[in-house]
Amino acid sequence: MEREAVLVGIDAGTTKVTTLIGEVGRTGDVNVIGYGIAPSAGMKKGMVANIDQTVNSIASSVEKAERLSGYKISSAFVSVGGSHISSQNSRGVVAVSGHKREVSREDVARATEAAKAVQVPSNREILHVVARGYIVDGQEGIKDPLGMSAVRLEVETHIVAGAATSVQNLSKCVSSSSVQIDEMVISSLAAAEATLTDTEKELGVLVADIGGGTTDIAIFVDGAAYHTAVLPVGGINVTNDVAIGLRTSLNLAEEIKIKHGTANMAEVEPEELLNVAVLGESGGQTIQRRKLCEIIEARMGEVFSLIGEEVKRSGHAGMLPAGAVLTGGGARLAGVEVLARETLDMPVRVGSPQGAGGLMDQIGNPAFSTSIGLLLWGAHHIGEEPIGYGGSNGVNPLSRIGEWIRNLFPG
Ligand SMILES: Nc1ncnc2c1ncn2[C@@H]1O[C@H](COP(=O)(O)OP(=O)(O)OP(=O)(O)O)[C@@H](O)[C@H]1O
Ligand SMILES: [Mg+2]
Repeated sequence: MEREAVLVGIDAGTTKVTTLIGEVGRTGDVNVIGYGIAPSAGMKKGMVANIDQTVNSIASSVEKAERLSGYKISSAFVSVGGSHISSQNSRGVVAVSGHKREVSREDVARATEAAKAVQVPSNREILHVVARGYIVDGQEGIKDPLGMSAVRLEVETHIVAGAATSVQNLSKCVSSSSVQIDEMVISSLAAAEATLTDTEKELGVLVADIGGGTTDIAIFVDGAAYHTAVLPVGGINVTNDVAIGLRTSLNLAEEIKIKHGTANMAEVEPEELLNVAVLGESGGQTIQRRKLCEIIEARMGEVFSLIGEEVKRSGHAGMLPAGAVLTGGGARLAGVEVLARETLDMPVRVGSPQGAGGLMDQIGNPAFSTSIGLLLWGAHHIGEEPIGYGGSNGVNPLSRIGEWIRNLFPG
């Protein structure tokens, strides 16, 4: 493959930190050539709760990826999560300038700036300004207005912002691991890059990245992000419930959940029995598998109800023909499709990461959608000035390409 750039994605999640190194070919194809996975310490519900522990986890994942690939990492696309993230839609309007009255790049940039001028409090940091589409002299649904003759240009944007302190804490942890940030990308939009098809996005679809501490949601309408949100629940809540309900340790609860759990009670026979160790007692207890799965079903049912409420909040209830795509480690739980379909009353599929090659037998499962999505995001946005975090660092596109080339030097 002819190599255009080497990109790095770092997904610092609540349960694990993943660093991926990907080669981008001339046609934008992405090939993963190295990965490093480290257990995450110091993150709670998608946010940094302990700087030192988070730095150690990130550094350990970065080192592993460097060792496996032989590359030295200097910069990366970094995922950001946590329920401090909020979004809103905003319209920017400008008069088309220039003597020919043709929409120029500058007009588009000014329209986007105007859309960004919504009240974002100073304690919030803008992470994304997604241009959803343009309205040119009242004509709606224009995807690319460049060169069109017009007097008035409007842009419809989806703006994502996060708490400045949370964003800075994550940024600090990445910098302390000696890695510069190319751009921060919210987990749901990264996961969407790796799991959704263009057709689904056109039709209207929801992606839910069910992680350990959070469930990150993005709703796409007319081909672009329309609503994003982060719910503070995930697989860890399920494991906690199992540990409490079965009076066993968290480690064992996690193991039992993965091995014997399902969110679909119809799969469970009443006579199925499991032997489970009890905390502080020798020997174990025999329980019905039903009991385990009822605990799991209750919590996952709550997760899907919360997702349903978020769909209502977006104003698109009943208007997502392509349904929901579940991904993240939590989507690996047996039976989630069935329960989600019942709760959300829409088509549901589990999405594994698509669109990248290399090492997929190790990382080709839903737990890596966000990290693979970061590489795809980077590949799609090569050479563009990031609008959100990263851009505000004063990094220009040329120096970003410089970083990517610097990533090429073997360590
Ligand atoms: N095979 C499996 N069956 C059931 N659950 C699983 C399986 N594999 C992983 N999980 C669950 O997925 C969760 C971790 O998912 P993931 O790796 O996507 O989270 P994360 O990115 O670290 O966290 P977050 O995105 O919330 O910050 C854990 O709660 C784990 O129990
Ligand atoms: Mg995650």
